[in-house]
Amino acid sequence: MPCEPSIAGPLVDGFGRVHNSLRISVTDRCNIRCFYCMPAENVRFKPRREILTFEEIERFTRVVTRLGVNKLRLTGGEPLVRHNLDRLVARLAEVPGIEDIALTTNGILLAEQAGALKDAGLGRLNVSLDALDAETFRQISRRDGFERILAGLFEAQRVGFARIKLNAVAIRGITEAQIVPLARFARRHGFELRFIEFMPLDADGKWDNSQVLSGDEIRRVLEDEVGPIEPLPVGDPSQPATDYRFVDGEGTIGFINPVTQPFCGDCNRLRLTAEGQMRNCLFSTVEWDARAVMRGGGSDDELAELVVSCVGAKKAGHGINSDEFIKPQRAMFQIGG
Ligand code: 5AD
Ligand code: SF4
Repeated sequence: MPCEPSIAGPLVDGFGRVHNSLRISVTDRCNIRCFYCMPAENVRFKPRREILTFEEIERFTRVVTRLGVNKLRLTGGEPLVRHNLDRLVARLAEVPGIEDIALTTNGILLAEQAGALKDAGLGRLNVSLDALDAETFRQISRRDGFERILAGLFEAQRVGFARIKLNAVAIRGITEAQIVPLARFARRHGFELRFIEFMPLDADGKWDNSQVLSGDEIRRVLEDEVGPIEPLPVGDPSQPATDYRFVDGEGTIGFINPVTQPFCGDCNRLRLTAEGQMRNCLFSTVEWDARAVMRGGGSDDELAELVVSCVGAKKAGHGINSDEFIKPQRAMFQIGG
């Protein structure tokens, strides 16, 4: 029985933000190649021995729950390419203090795994869906698979996942033609669509402010072409999305506007990369090596101390729009969304 760490939570940073949410990347591998996240070819993935085992992920989770973390999100890469992910979900669902486990997936392998994930205790699902036609999907992801995502979405509904969120990265020149089809599709089938402004986390380093299609622009298109929307009351302020509902009562729509309306002031999130590096921000330029502590025989107390220092060093915000902004060395697939 490992001894209880004497380091106490909650995890409050220098700006008073309480951290209760951990995003765990379970792999840097992916079965598609979205240009806003990965290079097209010759991706260098981490060797398997460098990736945290399920035991290590569970241990880390137990330590952070004692510091007040109660929400988990599994990400990647593409989390469903990690074998037996449902077994990890089942283990994490047993950790005392965990109230909610969510998963962000590209949906390609969802039809096969939705039932097992539900049974394992997965609570919520976010599925990336940037386009509603196979051709645009291929242009973005540089792979096939659009039909499988749709099959995955419907299977997830069938096995009982409710309020499934669809994430669409909003890219100027591509997304404009998808706004209305995506909104109609989401309304018809009861999915909660959210548009996410394209962030400078692409592997090719080609991001440019002019490629960001802002949430406000999308909102205007929706109002003109689908129907009026009105803001929903703010529930949890740490939620990055600003949510609206269609006035006719059919469906909601969310905007995640990290570039034009940064929400860092309410951030409650910590990240663990697939190879066990802690980050206090998507845009961190520094990492805290939790794997070294765990594999070097460190105690739970030492791990907790590392978490506390990571939180303590968190900056006020990402500063994407400032002249001093430094693009992280890692691309999205190497961090975890
Ligand atoms: N900008 C905005 N969103 C991104 N995602 C991946 N890369 C980017 C980026 N550069 C999204 C994915 C997925 C989630 C993990 O993050 O579409 O929904
Ligand atoms: Fe894969 Fe997700 Fe990156 Fe697309 S955004 S390449 S689905 S990890």
